[in-house]
Amino acid sequence: MEVTLRRFDLSDVDAMMAWASDPEAAAFCRWEPYESTEHLLAFIRDTVLPHPWFRAICLAGDSRPVGAVSLVPTADACRGELGYVLARAHWGNGVATAATKRALTTVFGEVPGLERVEAFVDVDNPASQRVLEKAGFRREGLLRRHYWHKGRVRDLVIYSFISSDLLPG
Ligand SMILES: CC(C)(COP(=O)(O)OP(=O)(O)OC[C@H]1O[C@@H](n2cnc3c(N)ncnc32)[C@H](O)[C@@H]1OP(=O)(O)O)[C@@H](O)C(=O)NCCC(=O)NCCS
Repeated sequence: MEVTLRRFDLSDVDAMMAWASDPEAAAFCRWEPYESTEHLLAFIRDTVLPHPWFRAICLAGDSRPVGAVSLVPTADACRGELGYVLARAHWGNGVATAATKRALTTVFGEVPGLERVEAFVDVDNPASQRVLEKAGFRREGLLRRHYWHKGRVRDLVIYSFISSDLLPG
């Protein structure tokens, strides 16, 4: 599976609506599904465009994004938190794994001070756990009752990939 990552622009709003408005895609994410293009446009303008590392996932030969991958800064420059989401029509084809691997090949060179990419995945989100395992992340443990998520307190699996780890072929 070949994917490319690029910056978003405002004209991506309609493509982004495919996943941003989908309750199933949002279920394990911190955001609520978007109900209007107007609100999503404001999110792109105010959060995505100024974000230090927020990329559109595109399939080979097509500039229309099918998903997004981001690295959110944490309290320490050495760590960034990875997140990704894909439009449901593209689930199950290896796209998120390819995008995660692609992200790992560039973030350490693009984000100053970055040494560790970490990811927190709900125990009931096996597809996302599998993505990280296939991309070479190490499962570090289970964080019990780690946070409130959409009205329920959740257990999370924590994963990491550090700058000296090897990407699987
Ligand atoms: C999680 C998500 C990004 C996966 O994207 P994807 O492109 O379908 O992922 P991939 O095809 O690269 O890999 C998915 C893997 O999970 C496996 N999988 C899918 N559903 C599964 C399930 N219910 N139980 C166990 N494994 C499952 C697939 O079989 C595949 O593994 P395999 O290649 O060994 O067969 C996508 O489902 C999504 O956008 N979900 C909503 C947003 C989300 O949860 N983001 C992550 C928040 S931490």
